[in-house]
Amino acid sequence: MVVHRAEQAPALTAPGGMGLTARCPLASAIAILPEVHSPAAPNEHPRGFPMRFPAEPFRIKVVEPIRRVSREEREKLIREAGLNIFAVPADSIYVDLLTDSGTSAMSDNQWAGLMLGDESYSGSRNYFHFEKTVREIFGFEHVIPTHQGRVAENLLFSTLLKPGDVVPNNIHFDTTRANVEHQQAEAADLVIDEGLDPTSLHPFKGDLDPGKLDRLLTEKKGRVPLVMITVTNNSGGGQPVSIANVRQVREVCRRHGVPLIFDACRFAENCYFIQQRESGYANKSVAEIARELFSHGDGCTMSAKKDGLVNIGGFLALNNAEWVSAITNLLILIEGFPTYGGLAGRDLEAMARGLREVLDEDYLAFRIGQVAHLGEMLDQAGVPIVKPVGGHAVYVDAKRFLPQIPQSQFPGQALVAALYRDYGIRAVEVGSLMFAHRDAHSGEVAYPRLELVRLAVPRRVYTTEHMRYVAESVIELHRQRARLKGLRITWEAPVLRHFTARLEEITDREVGTAR
Ligand SMILES: Cc1ncc(COP(=O)(O)O)c(C=O)c1O
Repeated sequence: MVVHRAEQAPALTAPGGMGLTARCPLASAIAILPEVHSPAAPNEHPRGFPMRFPAEPFRIKVVEPIRRVSREEREKLIREAGLNIFAVPADSIYVDLLTDSGTSAMSDNQWAGLMLGDESYSGSRNYFHFEKTVREIFGFEHVIPTHQGRVAENLLFSTLLKPGDVVPNNIHFDTTRANVEHQQAEAADLVIDEGLDPTSLHPFKGDLDPGKLDRLLTEKKGRVPLVMITVTNNSGGGQPVSIANVRQVREVCRRHGVPLIFDACRFAENCYFIQQRESGYANKSVAEIARELFSHGDGCTMSAKKDGLVNIGGFLALNNAEWVSAITNLLILIEGFPTYGGLAGRDLEAMARGLREVLDEDYLAFRIGQVAHLGEMLDQAGVPIVKPVGGHAVYVDAKRFLPQIPQSQFPGQALVAALYRDYGIRAVEVGSLMFAHRDAHSGEVAYPRLELVRLAVPRRVYTTEHMRYVAESVIELHRQRARLKGLRITWEAPVLRHFTARLEEITDREVGTAR
C-alpha cells in the first residue's frame, strides 16, 4: 500500500490545539519517513496549482554570470583564507548561502522605482510613499527610516534602556543582544523549551514562553522597559511564532504594564507559516495576518534587508509619540534627517515596493517551499538537519554529521571548509567557532549546545536547480564524511573571532596521538 507521507508522519500539534492544517504544502516536507520512496501526492497550491513545491513565480530578465572556479583554485583559496570562509572572495563562490540578508534580487518594479528617487534633503516623495506603506502593513503611527536593522535597535535601546535593565525576547539576534548589552542592560532569551531542541517537531518553535516571561517580569519589576519578539526567530533556526503565543505574551505584558516590540525582519515568512499551520488562519491573507500580528504590539524594529526585499534599508515604527520625539533627535545626530534616515530617496522607494511584493502569496509559497525542498532532499538522504525546516535557511547538525570530530575541533567549520573546497558552496558555521568561550569563573571552555552549519537561501536569487546542486553536494560529502578531519585555531581575535580566525587541519598522526 502506498501511504502518503503526511499520513504516516507524527502529528505536528502544539499545545493549545494548533496543528498543521490540511492546506499546508509543507506538512510532508517536515515529516519525512526515509523508508517511503514514492512521490507524495501533490498538494493544492493556494491558487489551485497541483504542486508540492511551487516553481519560481517570476521570469529572469537580467542575469549575473557566476565564475566557475576549479577545485585546485578553491583548495588554494580556502587554504590562503586560513580555512575561514569569510576571507574567500565572493566572486570565487558558486552558490553563496552565507546569508539571506541584503542578498535579495530586486524586481523590475523595484528597479523602476529607483529611477523615481527624489533626492531632496527633506520631504522626499519617496519617504511619504514609504511611510504610507509601513503604516498600512504594520499599523504603527510613526515611521523612522534607518539604513539597516541594527540602527533601529540602537536608536530604540539608547532611548529606552538604562544600566541594569533587562530585555526579554524569544531569542535575541546577535546585533540585538549586542545593542542591549551596549547599554549595560541584560538580554534574556525566553524561547519555549522545544525551540532549543533540534529534534522537536513543534510547528511554532519560535514561541516565547509566557510562563518564563511572567516570572521574569515579576522578579525584575521596574527593570524591564520593553519585551521583544523576533519573527521569525532567526537565532533559533528561522522558526515561526504563532498568533496565539503573541496574544498570550501581550496579555502578560499588559498585566505588568510593559510594551511589546517586534523584531519584524522576516514578518512575511512568519505570517505565511501562520496561514499554513495555525488553525483559524487558513482563509486569511498574509497581509491580514500581518495586520493582526502587529496589532498586538506597540512597535517594531525592521531590517528590510530580509523581507523588505532590498539590499540595504530598515526602519523603526512606533505608536508612542514621546519615544519618537527623543529618537528623532538621536536620528538626526547619527543617521540623518527623519525623511531619509541614512538612505537615498531611491532606496526608500525600493523598500516601499519590496514590502508590498513580499506579501505576494505565490512568492511566499515558492520562497518557503524552496527552502523546505532543500531540507527535504537532505533529510531523505539521511543528512542530519534541524526540523522542521525554518523560513530562510536549512541548518545542518554538524555534531551528528561528523561524530568523529569533537566540538573542540570545530566540526561545523570543518564542514563549511569542505563544502567550499569540494563544491564551491559557501555556508556559515553557527557552533563552537562562533560561540565557544572560556568561562570567567571556572576557566574551562564552554561549548554551545548546538553545532550547526547554516545554508541561508537568498530571496529570488537561486533556482531550484541550484538547490538540487547544493543538496547533491551535501549528500555526497555526507557519504564521504569519514575523510573529514578536525581543525585547530592558529590565530583568533579577542571578540567575534569567527569572522577573522585562521585555522588548520589536524593531521591523522595527531588525531592518533590525541585520542
Ligand atoms: C532577527 C534579526 N534582527 C536584526 C538583524 C540586524 O539587521 P541588519 O543586519 O540590517 O542590521 C538581523 C540581521 O540578520 C536579524 O536576522
